[in-house]
Amino acid sequence: MVSEALAQTLKTFDPHRHRLVALTGAGVSAESGIPTFRGNDGFWRIGSRDYQPQEIATMETFRQYPEKVWQWYLYRLGLCRSAAPNPGHAALAAVEAHLKDRFTLITQNVDGLHLAAGNTRARTLEIHGNLSYLRCARECTPGITPLPLPGTRRDRDTPLTEAEAAQLHCPYCGGWARPHVLWFDEIYNEHYYRAETALGAANRASLLLVAGTSGATNLPNRIVYQAARRGVTIIEINVAPSPFSRLVTGSPGGGFIQAPAGEVLPEMATLLSGRNSG
Ligand code: OAD
Repeated sequence: MVSEALAQTLKTFDPHRHRLVALTGAGVSAESGIPTFRGNDGFWRIGSRDYQPQEIATMETFRQYPEKVWQWYLYRLGLCRSAAPNPGHAALAAVEAHLKDRFTLITQNVDGLHLAAGNTRARTLEIHGNLSYLRCARECTPGITPLPLPGTRRDRDTPLTEAEAAQLHCPYCGGWARPHVLWFDEIYNEHYYRAETALGAANRASLLLVAGTSGATNLPNRIVYQAARRGVTIIEINVAPSPFSRLVTGSPGGGFIQAPAGEVLPEMATLLSGRNSG
């Protein structure tokens, strides 16, 4: 599936000299059964009974209807907690184990599946947050804490119980806690979303792998366009062409692979590890 030219790029990646950054999106978790955002059954196409999807994921809606917003995130959490990492996740964990500090994973996914597959917290930048965590909505403290609920499967319109609502409050000020995810009416920052660290890692990369993202969000766009301007090798994996596909084809030694991430990433991990026979 990986062309001979791209295989050559991967085989010549020097684990003692080069740095690899992987940028992932919802397509990487699609093979674990988690809907993407903009696909036909995507989260941003199917909302809840009362809201259009993109209205739910805002601070403005949360301020007015915190229970409704939480009910939707608990539905998504249930989907994520019942999913398991797929071979694409496992491959990226293997690449990190091989490259160690010469690897950084920048993920837009909030499902925690990269961590579950074995990528380390230190080298995984969850730039859109993680559904398994919450924080004070008023920011009375800057802390991020694990969600104190099991995250079992539920329907998207199942209301919160009183007991659940009680758990979703800040233990310090008593106000609502919020999901630790970036919303549409908010901006990236370093403290919660590691935005500067992500840009810095991308600026030092010699090879950028972009997998399973439609390129619709701001920071991933900056990462890919900055890398292209620096003349970095970029390889994209996606089941369909994205706004990045033409750009990556013009990068030195880079290119676009139209195939599922769960099939291509394991092949790439083998080529990077030098364990391939060819
Ligand atoms: P999207 O739903 O926008 O795009 C998913 C991409 O994955 C598409 O380009 C698909 O073609 C591709 N894809 C689907 N299945 C695949 C597979 N098996 N292998 C490879 N590619 C596959 O999801 P994202 O790009 O991740 O942000 O969306 C970015 C952000 O937009 C999300 O993190 C979310 C959303 O608003 C926040 O919630 C802050």
